[in-house]
Amino acid sequence: MICLGIEGTAHSIGIGIVKDTKGKCNVLSNIIKIYRPEHGGIHPREAANHHATHVADLIKESIEAAGVDFTDINLISFSQGPGLGPCLRTAATAARALSLSLNKPIMGVNHCVAHLEIGRGTIDDCKDPVLLYTSGANTQVIAFAEGKYRVFGETLDIGIGNCLDKFGRAVGMDFPSGPKIEKLAEKGKQYLELPYSIKGMDIAFSGLLTASEQYYQKGKRLEDICYSMQETTFAALTEVTERAMAHTEKDEVLLGGGVASNKRLRDMVQTMAEERGARFFVPSKDLCIDNGAMIAWLGLLMYNSGIRMKVEESLIDQRFRTDMVDVSWRD
Ligand code: ATP
Ligand code: FE2
Repeated sequence: MICLGIEGTAHSIGIGIVKDTKGKCNVLSNIIKIYRPEHGGIHPREAANHHATHVADLIKESIEAAGVDFTDINLISFSQGPGLGPCLRTAATAARALSLSLNKPIMGVNHCVAHLEIGRGTIDDCKDPVLLYTSGANTQVIAFAEGKYRVFGETLDIGIGNCLDKFGRAVGMDFPSGPKIEKLAEKGKQYLELPYSIKGMDIAFSGLLTASEQYYQKGKRLEDICYSMQETTFAALTEVTERAMAHTEKDEVLLGGGVASNKRLRDMVQTMAEERGARFFVPSKDLCIDNGAMIAWLGLLMYNSGIRMKVEESLIDQRFRTDMVDVSWRD
């Protein structure tokens, strides 16, 4: 079975085509185009216009890259939520149009669950992980328990990527700032005290963001601030992930989301995993960031487990929570 997935929750529009091969995900193509605002943050309407402008060409491109024909596609899936309304609607509209014109079934999927399933689908030993999902808008620790993916911990205010990007914007860096902060942090020499706020299993970043901006205004070395931001936020993320692993007694940890590209975050989580005797997994970068292949793969899993969706039922949900999904494709 071959599925074409359309991802469009925020600044990326992605088209992925995947095939299931003995229960594993075979990625045939995965094309991503990112909307980059000239200045400031993402304007939802402008991002949606960007997606609408490019989606048809990207679909053709991904069909060619996969070496298949439109007639080979058995299913169309799309990111139903969570995300920015105008962006979600654009991806959903493209999916509906394709589904109707090819006369193939449609499936809306949860974006956060897709980040987890692509790890299980593409990494051989990754079977039942705790996912640390760190992107721009999202920061969640997710694991499977009693028929659902449960959120064990999450951000109470902004996502970790957003925190880094906002700091970057305040000090004059281009979007996205995460990679630039990572480079500067390597030259950090002194740790500057920052608020470390974990509440139960949840985390907050906005106090730390304000404190970091204040250090900058007071003339502290930018390298030291970046270093301290990474050390503090990543330690908190690692701590919450470890607690979720202890609570669920799981011995695998998986990273997902754009911030998972960060080497320091990977190292911290890997060290924690090794000390617990657990295994550490991270998908390739193009499967970590927002991408169509993960949407296609989750659509395929859902369809194969007997779930069906009519076009009339394919409404988007900006606040689609991870634990709203009945995970009927797992035991
Ligand atoms: P979502 O819609 O799932 O919230 P997103 O639209 O923010 O995701 P992603 O591609 O998953 O998209 O993540 C982008 C984020 O990752 C940005 O905030 C960016 O700064 C951050 N990022 C990318 N590379 C790095 C890095 N090396 N270190 C830290 N952060 C990074
Ligand atoms: Fe994402």
